[in-house]
Amino acid sequence: MSLNEDHYRAKEWGQGHFRVDSAGFLRVIPGGDSSSVRLIDAVNALAQTGVEDPLVVRFPQILQSRQRRIREAFAAAISEYEYPAGYQGVFPVKVNHNRHVVETLVEGGRDHGFGLEVGSKAELCLALTLELGAGAYIVCNGFKDRDYLLLACHAAKQGRCILLIAENPQEVKEIIEISFAVGHMPDVGFRARLHAQGTGRWQESSGHKGKFGLSTMEILEGFEALEQANMLDRLLALHFHIGSQVSDILNIKGSIKEASRLFAAMKQKAPSLCVLDLGGGLGVDYDGSRTSTDWSVNYSIEEYARDAVYMVKDICDEARVAPPLIMTESGRALCASHAVIVLSALRVVGCHESRDYNRHQTEANQIEDLKATLEEIGETNFREAFHDATQLLNELLSGFRLGYVTIDERAVGECLYRDICTKVRGFMTPEKKRTHDLVALEKQLAPKIVCNFSVFMSAPDSWAVQQLFPVLPLTRANESKRSAATIGDITCDSDGKLDRFIGRNGVEPYLRLPEPIEDEPFHIGMFLVGAYQDVLGDFHNLFGTVNEAVVMVNGEDDFSIAHVTEGSSIEHSLDQFGFSMTDMVRGFDRLVDRRQSRDAVQSYKGVFLRVLHGNTYLNQI
Ligand SMILES: Cc1ncc(COP(=O)(O)O)c(C=O)c1O
Repeated sequence: MSLNEDHYRAKEWGQGHFRVDSAGFLRVIPGGDSSSVRLIDAVNALAQTGVEDPLVVRFPQILQSRQRRIREAFAAAISEYEYPAGYQGVFPVKVNHNRHVVETLVEGGRDHGFGLEVGSKAELCLALTLELGAGAYIVCNGFKDRDYLLLACHAAKQGRCILLIAENPQEVKEIIEISFAVGHMPDVGFRARLHAQGTGRWQESSGHKGKFGLSTMEILEGFEALEQANMLDRLLALHFHIGSQVSDILNIKGSIKEASRLFAAMKQKAPSLCVLDLGGGLGVDYDGSRTSTDWSVNYSIEEYARDAVYMVKDICDEARVAPPLIMTESGRALCASHAVIVLSALRVVGCHESRDYNRHQTEANQIEDLKATLEEIGETNFREAFHDATQLLNELLSGFRLGYVTIDERAVGECLYRDICTKVRGFMTPEKKRTHDLVALEKQLAPKIVCNFSVFMSAPDSWAVQQLFPVLPLTRANESKRSAATIGDITCDSDGKLDRFIGRNGVEPYLRLPEPIEDEPFHIGMFLVGAYQDVLGDFHNLFGTVNEAVVMVNGEDDFSIAHVTEGSSIEHSLDQFGFSMTDMVRGFDRLVDRRQSRDAVQSYKGVFLRVLHGNTYLNQI
């Protein structure tokens, strides 16, 4: 067996936390440079305790390592440029509301003023129950009603560090009114509507068309309103957010430059301003290409921090105003790598096995021509043969529609076409195959590996915004004999599939996996799913949340399972949509056929209840 460690480019997208070892096992290195474990060992240990895949495995140590890396990047930049103010991070809880995630980050940031960003009343309630470290802010963003503002003002009155961000002019007025009613003026920030935009999928989060933020004139009017209310000295922060996953550092630089100028100008009018909140947007290199394409980034965390600190200082020095505390709301960059979804292959569909079609009676000319084409394929004419075969099959299918090609002829024609494609593929070397139609051929021939999961629950962004996530086997990832496949989920939706993968030559329409070994379980991991996917998932076909495990790495090949959360039961999934357990059982009892024997009714009901209490995903038969 020839070996190659780097088929899946784990080193490039793994951010130091994932690699394939020389034995082909996917290893997780939570600390980046410390002990590692084989992911499959954790998956097998969980299976032994009855925790089956589909499964989300979380590594809290990765979260804290990412948190440390961002903090240290800013600390280094602050020291390099002798920046006179500090840095504080806040975690936007919308990126992942999972309690373990939020608590791990709060814990990891307790001594560093690390806070939380919230965008709704529910998120504010969550944040108010957590004990943050000294000086850590709860940044209140998003649309706000009276209750949101009342709760935030009361919390501020109680001594919580609240930074209430006005997202629109109406909110400036409401903040003034409600803080008077509560008898306490909270710290306030203005979100600016910058001209600078992000890149890619979320670039319209800012700019003229953005949903949030005050225009320059609205900022000036906001000053007046605060001044009239005698509250101008509560204006502490300028905030902006140009969108998530900003892939090009030039867009980041542009936005920080514009915001720093705005900050410096605003500070002339509101001397209390002392925080510049850069929002989120720090991207993740999902495909490992280090480019400014949508699912990559052309910069590092360190470059981001250096640019931010340098530009803010430079512009503030020039304007002769005191540089602010720099705040960031990075979510994706903190969380993405901490979670992996582990899937097992259930079955392979669309796999072509050669059939004996000679026993079927056929008369259509196209069949004879397809047979001749199959015979004659060679090194020099394989591309032409593929084109001829495609035309002949199309003719055959038209004939079937018009009624003069029989079902046997259609079946034989389809088999011949697949045999031709398979033979053509044999002549395609990596250099020769890269014409569009032949890449499509490879995709067409690739079998679909059906995995026990729902794309809509576990990786919704791969469907909704065509996001790329690294996908690779947890074992045998170093084998060079591999064949192309795509991945399908178990929902009844043709969109429930993965058909864009990170390959050696960039994005490919299929994944190359080692040949399956009969009766040997085969696990596939989908990586970097720790940001947004946990919270955006939906209950398509009533497939619910999957089992989850929190895994701690204690030393080389030494791990412990710190926590397990069972996935949703069918009962729970149904309950979400108003079908309570009581109603379900009542409905069942009403409709059961009482003329059947008592035993038959009992065993039917037994199965019904067992299924209701069970997991929504497929059990291994
Ligand atoms: C206001 C705000 N802050 C922070 C974030 C987090 O962004 P990211 O996950 O790209 O860091 C978002 C998400 O889009 C946001 O809307």
